[in-house]
Amino acid sequence: MNANAVPDRSGTDVCSWWDDLSTAVLVTDGRLRLISVNSAAEVLLGLSRERVVGAQLGQSLRLDRNLTGQLQHAMTLDHPLTLRARRLQPLRAQGFLADLVVSPLHDAMLPARLLIELTAIDRQQRINQEDQLRQQQAISRAVTRGLAHEIKNPLGGLRGAAQLLACELDDSALREYTRIIIREADRLRGLVDRMLGPNNLPRLEPVNVHEVLEHVRGLVSVQLPLDLRITADYDPSIPEVLADRDMLVQAILNLVQNAMQALGDHGEIRLMSRILRQYTISGERHRLVARLRVRDNGPGVPEEIRERIFFPMVTGRASGTGLGLPIAQGLVQLNNGLIECHSRPGCTDFDVLLPLESEQ
Ligand SMILES: Nc1ncnc2c1ncn2[C@@H]1O[C@H](COP(=O)(O)OP(=O)(O)O)[C@@H](O)[C@H]1O
Ligand SMILES: [Mg+2]
Repeated sequence: MNANAVPDRSGTDVCSWWDDLSTAVLVTDGRLRLISVNSAAEVLLGLSRERVVGAQLGQSLRLDRNLTGQLQHAMTLDHPLTLRARRLQPLRAQGFLADLVVSPLHDAMLPARLLIELTAIDRQQRINQEDQLRQQQAISRAVTRGLAHEIKNPLGGLRGAAQLLACELDDSALREYTRIIIREADRLRGLVDRMLGPNNLPRLEPVNVHEVLEHVRGLVSVQLPLDLRITADYDPSIPEVLADRDMLVQAILNLVQNAMQALGDHGEIRLMSRILRQYTISGERHRLVARLRVRDNGPGVPEEIRERIFFPMVTGRASGTGLGLPIAQGLVQLNNGLIECHSRPGCTDFDVLLPLESEQ
């Protein structure tokens, strides 16, 4: 960045593009007192320029001794500094992960100054992780399809042979064995079909997401233990989404059932809806996205399987099949959406993200 473009000491912007930068930029004096911040920095740090100019940087951003030392070092040694993936905590805004580029500024006419550029990288990291997950899921789906084919063909032969054998057997005790073979073959076929996931194309229609959430709530409320509550917290302004209603019902039902299983006899499941702005799903940026959240206050997804829960056959329960989440993910992806999970003990969120039609 050109030092001449930095605002002067009074905080007056010399160039208009200073505020058009998407990178947050701050300028401090030699004692880490803020001289100027641009608009992106105001947003990122949750502060207004008028309030912070003239105050210590540490009053806007939590500075540990390490970071303070590094900034002072850059200043005294007159040496630029790059810090990658540092977690920063503003005092009045949400914490974020950022790359920092710190450059001492030279100007014979002015005292020493430090230019700090902050690039928030949480969003980029999330996109990379999502990309990786999508690739892994595509591989896993291809393997599952191949395996399913290999299993289903001989299984059909096996079942047919058992049926023929049953016709030849007079002894009903022996026919019991063929019945077992047929029943188990059917069970395996069902399992393989479920592993393959939905094979119908979605029938897209305008869907009221709150009707879907309330429908699922109605479905599970009959089997709800006394101490398990399902509450709702909706944003009524969410418009209809273009989706297959039945697929959404099934996906959300799977998530709610998982939450119920995680909670056992007591706890709370909260169904929430919100609108997100400028959100990227599967590499595509959407202006508006509906987020349907199934939140529970249970123990959280076991850490050892947290990274893999959307893969088939990954389960943390003795009687689980590990198919609920991959099926739900498949259904939502067929509707151009995505399911994300954020989990810690006491708070687990499964978010169904669905692109909304643009507003025009
Ligand atoms: N809300 C939740 N809280 C805690 N763990 C969960 C939750 N949802 C899913 N899980 C974990 O993810 C695993 C995989 O879920 P799923 O694919 O539905 O298969 P299954 O329910 O058959 O085990 C579960 O076994 C459980 O360990
Ligand atoms: Mg399940």
